[in-house]
Amino acid sequence: MHDLNWWKHAVIYEVYPRSFQDSNGDGIGDLRGIFERLDYLVDLGIDAIWISPIYPSPMADFGYDVADYCGIDPIFGTMADFDRLLEQVHARGLRLILDFVPNHTSDQHPWFIESRSSRKNAKRDWYVWRDEPNNWTSQFGGSAWEFDSATGQYYCHSFLKQQPDLNWRNPDVKAAMFDALRFWLCKGVDGFRVDVMWLMIKDDQFRDNPPNPAYRPNMPSNQRFLSIYNADRPEVHDIVTEMRNVVDEFTERVLIGEIYLPVPQLMTYYGKDLRGANLPFNFHLLQCAWTAEQVAQVIGDYYRFLPEGAWPNWVLGNHDQPRIASRIGQQQARVAAMLLFTLPGTLTMYYGEEIGMTNVQIAPEQVKDPAEKNEPGIGQGRDPERTPMCWDATQFAGFTTGTPWLPIGDDHGINVATEHQDDGSILALYRKLIGLRKSHPTLIRGKLSDLHIENNILHYRRSGSEEIQIILNMTHEEKTVQTLPATVIVGTRTGRDGQTVNGLSTLQPAEGLVLLLS
Ligand code: GLC
Repeated sequence: MHDLNWWKHAVIYEVYPRSFQDSNGDGIGDLRGIFERLDYLVDLGIDAIWISPIYPSPMADFGYDVADYCGIDPIFGTMADFDRLLEQVHARGLRLILDFVPNHTSDQHPWFIESRSSRKNAKRDWYVWRDEPNNWTSQFGGSAWEFDSATGQYYCHSFLKQQPDLNWRNPDVKAAMFDALRFWLCKGVDGFRVDVMWLMIKDDQFRDNPPNPAYRPNMPSNQRFLSIYNADRPEVHDIVTEMRNVVDEFTERVLIGEIYLPVPQLMTYYGKDLRGANLPFNFHLLQCAWTAEQVAQVIGDYYRFLPEGAWPNWVLGNHDQPRIASRIGQQQARVAAMLLFTLPGTLTMYYGEEIGMTNVQIAPEQVKDPAEKNEPGIGQGRDPERTPMCWDATQFAGFTTGTPWLPIGDDHGINVATEHQDDGSILALYRKLIGLRKSHPTLIRGKLSDLHIENNILHYRRSGSEEIQIILNMTHEEKTVQTLPATVIVGTRTGRDGQTVNGLSTLQPAEGLVLLLS
């Protein structure tokens, strides 16, 4: 694999730092906690850790409101803790990816404090100020414009009013933000996941968005209009390329973009001549119905639109989406893992997926997420998928000795310690599947072919130095399939590994097999 960039054969593991491991008993995860769990991650077999924001922040949006791009919030530790973590991540042969939040700062960032202080301030134009609002809406509900009485103008915020949008048309903003990237790159971080990449720049004429004909009153208010003029603007690609150039001043780094767009638009973020993001995150498995037809369609469309030479990627979960085991059930979550780890490209998983963590129900008085607080009860909240990692069956799951900032899930069987003892656990399956990519490089670089559905079973092949067939039963019924002579290298259920198949085989409900053809 040495001729491929490291990130091309990587499994990326997202750590939501507040919830991974607390080391000081304040109920909130921290950098020392991540450090303490590095051996677990090595054992799991992942290659890179992406940590959601750890910068100084008032935490209005739990770190996605940055008050200093080059520091560490005391909740998470110190810069010395970070340096030690980075060194130890590298010493274990892993990589570290940071989150970069370019669209907005915190309203407590010194740049914004200056900007709002007077219309004449040198940083006034670092943010988006207007005399009149237009109809753009915030992703967290309501208008995207907040009136600032001190200077009599409105500023734009695509998220909370505590998250004012930066003005990426201003060259000084670009320079300052690129210097922040260089600060971390010089320290040796291996790349960035760029927050809301497709929102970074807005229409310079501030035209109103057209109404969304599909909008219904029970939908989140940000769906009232089609985001034509405040998202996915053509100018965004120049910024992404400039960002990529900064990252490429250093060797072997990766630029990943968070982008929620349909496949054809998503692909444009690879950039002209592939000078955009190395990996525009592909969230399409998170958004499709869990049927063989839908999944086959998503896979087919994705590779059909993938530009020549672009490297694919797949994501199974993140801190903004319901957990996969809640969305499709525990048994199908195993099938989803088998799907993920047998697709070509870079793969991203979310902490806790490997043990089958589910969404935790959050009582109204426990809600922390501003998205839920702003528009309660319509499924906007992200606390359920952000609850603490379950390390063991003790009261606070080995996460903290204090009071956890979000409740712990009450299924005490779902935890690392218990599953570690059990060969049939989803954790054991994850370790096998991740390991399989190392022992069968065809899964990383082999061609994907023969994608089809037969008797409701999803089939595809990976071809390289060997022929690997994957068959996935996404239904809740037993199915029979025709197979060529082959050996099961991994099954989603225990007892199948090493068996041979030939001709008619039975697949149990939610069973998947990876077959090495003879
Ligand atoms: C991204 C983050 C999300 C955050 C938002 C605003 O979508 O993933 O958690 O709330 O951006 O920064």
